[in-house]
Amino acid sequence: MHCDSRGILRVLWLVAVVALVPSLSLADDAGKVLFDRKCAMCHGVDGVAKNMAAGSANLNDPEWQEANSAESIVTVITEGKGRMKGYDGRLTEAEIKQIADYVKTLK
Ligand code: HEC
Repeated sequence: MHCDSRGILRVLWLVAVVALVPSLSLADDAGKVLFDRKCAMCHGVDGVAKNMAAGSANLNDPEWQEANSAESIVTVITEGKGRMKGYDGRLTEAEIKQIADYVKTLK
């Protein structure tokens, strides 16, 4: 039987996509669920600051997004900033990272 390598590559590619997509979207979901539960009452589901987040940038603002990395967001969540209390000890490092990655997807 003739079996060309493009066919094999296509199968490998499919396997990779099928294996990766659910794990990526699960991580996103965890970040979104946590953000909606812990942050949205102040920062809004869409990242637009409500009264309780007065003084905060809108987290979906393109310029703010440009200026803030996931790492700097991790620091704010962990240590707090101004009137926002830090989540050190109330969220795990992994949860904080998931939330920060999710915040980076807000548009
Ligand atoms: C009780 C309301 C409240 C909650 C809950 C809250 N924040 Fe905040 N957040 C604030 C306020 C107020 C500020 C502005 C602090 C300052 O600069 O004085 C702020 C600032 C921030 C900033 C910095 C924005 C900037 O202007 O650079 C980030 C990022 C942020 N919050 C993310 C989060 C995330 C993620 C969560 C959930 C884990 C969260 N916050 C939960 C009130 C809140």
